[in-house]
Amino acid sequence: MNLKTVVLCLLVTLGVVVLLLGKHNQSAKEEVTDTESITNDNGFDLQTWPARAMSPRRDPVIEARIDALLAQMSIAEKVGQIIQPELKYVTPEDVKTYHLGSILNGGGTTPNNDKYASLDDWVNTADAFYTASMDESDGNIAIPLIWGTDAVHGNNNVYGATIFPHNIGLGAANDLPLMYRIGQVTAREVAATGVNWTFGPTVAVARDVRWGRTYESYSENPELVNQYAREMVRGIQGEFKNSMRVGPNHIVSTAKHFLGDGGTSMGVDRGDTVASEWELRQVHGAGYIAALDANVLTTMASFNSWNGDKLHGHRYLLTDVLKERMGFEGFVVGDWNGHQQVPGCHVSRCPAAINAGLDMFMVPEHWKALYENTLKDVEQGHISPARLDDAVRRILRVKLIAGLFDAGPVADRPLVGDVGLIGHPDHRALAREAVRKSLVLLKNNGGVLPLKPGSRVLIAGDAADNIAKQSGGWSLTWQGTGNQNSDFPGATSILVGLQSAIEQAGGQSLYAADGVWEPSDFGESGRPDVAVVVFGEEPYAEWHGDLINIEYQYGDKRDLRLLQALQAQGIPVVSVFITGRPLWVNKEVNASDAFVVAWLPGTEGAGVADVLVADAAGNAPFDFQGRLSFSWPKYVNQARLNFDETGYDPLFPLDYGLSYASTNPPLGPLDERNARQPNSVLDELWGFVSRANAPWSIVVRERDEALIAMQGNSVSTPTEMLVVQSVDKVAQEDARRLNWSGVGSATFALNAQVPQDLSAYQRHSAVMTLSAQLNATTQADVAFSVLCDAQSCADLPEVAAAVTNLSPGAWQNIVIDSTCLARSEQRFAGVRQLLAIRTDGELDLTLADIKLVPQARLMEDPSALTVRCGG
Ligand code: BGC
Ligand code: BGC
Repeated sequence: MNLKTVVLCLLVTLGVVVLLLGKHNQSAKEEVTDTESITNDNGFDLQTWPARAMSPRRDPVIEARIDALLAQMSIAEKVGQIIQPELKYVTPEDVKTYHLGSILNGGGTTPNNDKYASLDDWVNTADAFYTASMDESDGNIAIPLIWGTDAVHGNNNVYGATIFPHNIGLGAANDLPLMYRIGQVTAREVAATGVNWTFGPTVAVARDVRWGRTYESYSENPELVNQYAREMVRGIQGEFKNSMRVGPNHIVSTAKHFLGDGGTSMGVDRGDTVASEWELRQVHGAGYIAALDANVLTTMASFNSWNGDKLHGHRYLLTDVLKERMGFEGFVVGDWNGHQQVPGCHVSRCPAAINAGLDMFMVPEHWKALYENTLKDVEQGHISPARLDDAVRRILRVKLIAGLFDAGPVADRPLVGDVGLIGHPDHRALAREAVRKSLVLLKNNGGVLPLKPGSRVLIAGDAADNIAKQSGGWSLTWQGTGNQNSDFPGATSILVGLQSAIEQAGGQSLYAADGVWEPSDFGESGRPDVAVVVFGEEPYAEWHGDLINIEYQYGDKRDLRLLQALQAQGIPVVSVFITGRPLWVNKEVNASDAFVVAWLPGTEGAGVADVLVADAAGNAPFDFQGRLSFSWPKYVNQARLNFDETGYDPLFPLDYGLSYASTNPPLGPLDERNARQPNSVLDELWGFVSRANAPWSIVVRERDEALIAMQGNSVSTPTEMLVVQSVDKVAQEDARRLNWSGVGSATFALNAQVPQDLSAYQRHSAVMTLSAQLNATTQADVAFSVLCDAQSCADLPEVAAAVTNLSPGAWQNIVIDSTCLARSEQRFAGVRQLLAIRTDGELDLTLADIKLVPQARLMEDPSALTVRCGG
């Protein structure tokens, strides 16, 4: 035998072994046994997870096409497939040059950066990108691009689209067929634009309502999330009845964010989910099991960690559990630069994520550098050719199942460019149905609802005529801010729905946002019979919505004052609460005769009147169907309140909700004073974590002039003695850089409008913690003070000395000991400024994470610098 034959023999033997192994794996998966014992040496236990057949099913025709494509593709073409830039930072030319596999448009990104982009703009953009991906003129292989968007409550980035209630409201509707239909309609409104993939559904099981994404979660109950995930994915992707193909009326769906996004400590977005493997699977895994059953084609890796390890680098969860044990055969897309948080990675290089099982990087801006580095990593063996091929195989599989190879030019596809589909009356009718089904009635004393025919109704509250507010985050813009009613053509505010229903029932209504009315407004009787007040949370998305305190309008109870003013006039009050989560509203409930939770209903506000207003015959057209899919807190420290956890003591339990048929006795007054659950540990109080946390806001002042509040990304005093800017520490804009020019005295402070009673923190021997980075050495004489009331502060020269002596350029965690805070003994009860820094010298300092931490909650941090005051 010559050498050639030996090598050949070896190769053949190897091939057979690989084939056999592959076969073995496959049959093991298809048989789905429970008896396998696969315990991993890291202490993980694979058996916790269900062993499942492959999902999506492999179709031999598709697999053969993938083989053929892979055989022709160069490494560069393969690397291009796993890179997903964002619309703002990429051109069709780039797609052609770099063989890019995908693009996304992030929240609020639209073609030509035009919020009012027309359907044609969307279609033309999709077509330009698709055409570039199919261009073979340079000898490239044509591989159609897949475009992903966050259609998370309808095709919400598109002007004029139908916007459905956010997931939390859908959860309350507890209606599976409704989910399926919403999935179908969402797919159609996305398909019309030429986009073929949505980053939804979110199957998070939110377990702490401080999380800014609670409203993206259907329920705290994993069972409901499981059932919903299945219906939503089937609605979006279609049912694959006859073949493994996404039909023309459907698009690709994503189950996100894998895994444990809703379980982070204190509800911190992108935080750490500390949980046993069993809990991870039972609670947070519930949605994925069903989504995989429904053949979900993609999953998105999450920003969070599990027991300290970032999911983007979690080989065990992404590969061993999701792909191998649970049989996921689609691809795992990353989240927005999420790979950069994996140890050893940065935004433009991260072999560890691919090796862990990520198949496509979501890398909005720095994709070119990431592309080049990934190419090198493959060439130098940091990423194996087999792993790259597997990632590309999965991406090609999804594209083939989605029918993209055979779909032809974007504009010629069914549904594409059909203007009538965007905001179609049938779609709006479905959204309106979802709105009425999602309303939860918590109180209806004296049968004030439904509003009687012929009533004279005062409509008040700043959410009554505010489509932006009723839609919440992920609506035209990422945060849902900066929109006005005219930005939602075809939509109906809650006000307009109420007015028309009241009028049709022979009644009369007057709208005054501030609740101020004149006797002459109400004809002969000279007063309203009832007031409907629509109020609630301002829009937010992701970590911008993280809360430290779940008391509604903690700090400034504007809406409560409005309710109480009406109550004091003897007018029965109906509250309609717009919110992304349960909040502590005992006072607002007491100030209302009826209390309706409307969640974030979206563009079809008329669904509210459909349940609240009786027709001329005195019957409400629809009864309340909504039941709480999240437990409602009795105490302010019940942010983590779940039906299946110990100490469960809600105000209203999971599944609670009255209807017109209920025979419950009237709801008595709720306790307003004892706002804390007895025997509980006090929570941290956040002054600034990623942003100033209500009621605190950042203010600056020059000398003793007026305070100026920071609004956008920066603020400065009139002559720029002090400039404050948003900068990044670990996430976008999670720190503030304070720059004193040294020409005069200026102050930075975390300020509250009304004095805050923090005496509980004194009793719990709280410390203050913060992170500081000195950007340049300084000689400045600095006054550092904490816990100021209207007159004075506790001046802490020890802290000032520690901060000004930091070694420049490095972050330092600082603990300001309770001995320092004790200097403010008299002031804990009425704090206006949590912290204030004043100097007339030159000082360049960056701050982040400013908190009061009860001693019992202080975690050991060996790297922290502890400052003590006095002996
Ligand atoms: C969010 C994802 C979203 C992605 C694209 C991320 O910040 O976490 O849910 O799909 O951005 O907009
Ligand atoms: C994008 C969002 C994205 C977020 C993440 C925003 O600029 O519009 O889609 O989720 O950044 O950081």
